Amino acid sequence: MSTGGPGLLTALDRAGAALGDLSEELRETFLLRLERWWDDLVDALEALYAADEAQRLALQLVEHAARAYCDRDPELRRLDERRVLRPDWLQRPDMLGYACYTDRFAGDLRRLPERIGYLEELGVSYLHLMPLLTPRDGDNDGGYAVQDYRTIRPDLGTVEDLRDLARELRAHGISLVLDLVLNHVAREHEWAARARAGERRYRGYFHVFADRQMPDAYEATLPEVFPDFAPGNFTWDAELSGWVWTTFNAWQWDVNWANPEVMLEYADVVLHLANLGVEVLRLDAIAFTWKRLGTSCQNQPEVHAVTQALRAVARMACPATAFKAEAIVGPRDLVQYLGQGRYAGRVSELAYHNSLMVQVWSMLAAGNVVLARQALSALPPRPTTGTWITYVRCHDDIGWAIDDDDARAVGLDGFAHRRFLSTWYSGEFPDTWASGLVFQANPITGDRRISGTCASLAGLADAPDTLAEERALARVFLAHAVIFGWGGIPVIWSGDELGLPNDPGWADEPGHEDDNRWAHRPRIAWSTAARRRDLRTREGKVFHGLAHLAKVRRTLPQLHASAEPVVLEGTDDGVLAVLRRHPSGPMMGLYNVSGSWRPFPVQRLHAAGIAAPHEALSGHAVVTGDDGLAFLAPYAAWWVVDAGSAG
Ligand code: GLC
Repeated sequence: MSTGGPGLLTALDRAGAALGDLSEELRETFLLRLERWWDDLVDALEALYAADEAQRLALQLVEHAARAYCDRDPELRRLDERRVLRPDWLQRPDMLGYACYTDRFAGDLRRLPERIGYLEELGVSYLHLMPLLTPRDGDNDGGYAVQDYRTIRPDLGTVEDLRDLARELRAHGISLVLDLVLNHVAREHEWAARARAGERRYRGYFHVFADRQMPDAYEATLPEVFPDFAPGNFTWDAELSGWVWTTFNAWQWDVNWANPEVMLEYADVVLHLANLGVEVLRLDAIAFTWKRLGTSCQNQPEVHAVTQALRAVARMACPATAFKAEAIVGPRDLVQYLGQGRYAGRVSELAYHNSLMVQVWSMLAAGNVVLARQALSALPPRPTTGTWITYVRCHDDIGWAIDDDDARAVGLDGFAHRRFLSTWYSGEFPDTWASGLVFQANPITGDRRISGTCASLAGLADAPDTLAEERALARVFLAHAVIFGWGGIPVIWSGDELGLPNDPGWADEPGHEDDNRWAHRPRIAWSTAARRRDLRTREGKVFHGLAHLAKVRRTLPQLHASAEPVVLEGTDDGVLAVLRRHPSGPMMGLYNVSGSWRPFPVQRLHAAGIAAPHEALSGHAVVTGDDGLAFLAPYAAWWVVDAGSAG
């Protein structure tokens, strides 16, 4: 463990030299940050590398950070100060995310500003543009096979266009979010090309094995991410004359984070993207970055040290840049990505609440909250500065991350419930409303993930009559109300705000035919989007509903993400009751996940401190009968606050 000491003095010296002729004030700012984060940096590096190596690398990283700080646009340096002054900027109830592919949403980077008005109508303050750095040619996993981290996919624009866009978004109060793929690069990336050309240095950037001995040993405990189109985790490469680790596709080469050079390379990429004005970096597939024999090679403790080191570097050079962990893992492993134990407060500020997403769909299919109540209550506490990304679905398939222990605790069989969910959402279950697609069925594990837009999964896409459509609309609204009402940054996936169905032509584009995730990555047709203004249309109803949720959310201080949601026990099995205690007063989210009317005793609201229950989404008082029960309509969502504190 480092404690400042001589290492810090050397670092201050080195940084001082690297800061060149910056003004005294600017130099001082950097040096104070260095002093503050040095221990975090060294501590993380020592968890990954030998002690002398860690010290050497820490000094190098500090120099890189100092140089990036020198190059940083003065406007971004001001943003750094603003963020430092408002450390809870990601937690405020006015944060709302939107995720899309640049081309599918707006054509290209230059035309994207034309769509800012649309995002503002929804209330968006955070825009995640799906991978846009130069990918390999041909199939590239939606851009997740990066060939060059420093250039932009040519049909989308240039680095300058990206910088301009970030500035323009910022002027509208929208933070730009980009992916940083740090588990793998494309086989065509310069590092991989040089490794293939025989350069030892670059071979060391990857996990390469001369024969099957080690790959076989690892395979004994490794799962398969894409069993259909990329079985196994290693690929023979004739040019390398070896087996290279490829967790995802054969042309996505896992990098070797045990090599300090890799850390240095990625720290530079972080600094580069931050200096372009990217405000949140989504750490793609972070769970896979550290390998350990005899394990699943996911969620290893070192993964958090990797994040901590990169985070410390960013906090020195560009503190306005936040990190978001993309770890779509089981509920027991999830919270670590927001920092637990020695990593509390030192890793990503944001992480995807995969468990909540899965439970939303599980509740709707089952028509009860029994499992969700158990699973959501069983999550370990999160640091109050850590913030969930809440979502009903994303660009990926939905994997049924139901923990067997949680299922058992409520008398369910985990395997059977997962099977139920996949048949329900694939449309195979009798009387289901859903029309998703099965993604990567694995006969060995029984795993059957699902692709689908929110409208397809909630039954809006194929609603046979008006009543079915009304029910489906209520489910879409309910699912979003749960994630908007949880606390964190809710992210709408492009097309869901218009209730778009699965794209029937998803397989038509070359390279997409085997990957039905493209079904739920629709292109936005602006003639369709124009119907959002007409409240008689499906698009209008969904868009208006979501914009309304965002509008009400902004007025409720109770939805600040620092407050922890508590799921109440002992409620009607159809009603999820989520209590948020906050200095400005309590708030109770009530969600009827069933297709029938359900009671909720008003006494529970009183007991929570809500004396005069006011339902903020409808703007009405909660009506209670003589029996003390309030009744929620099928699929109703209520956000109940005390009339005294209602905005
Ligand atoms: C992440 C992405 C997914 C991609 C994978 C490999 O999970 O969300 O789309 O296939 O990483 O990069």
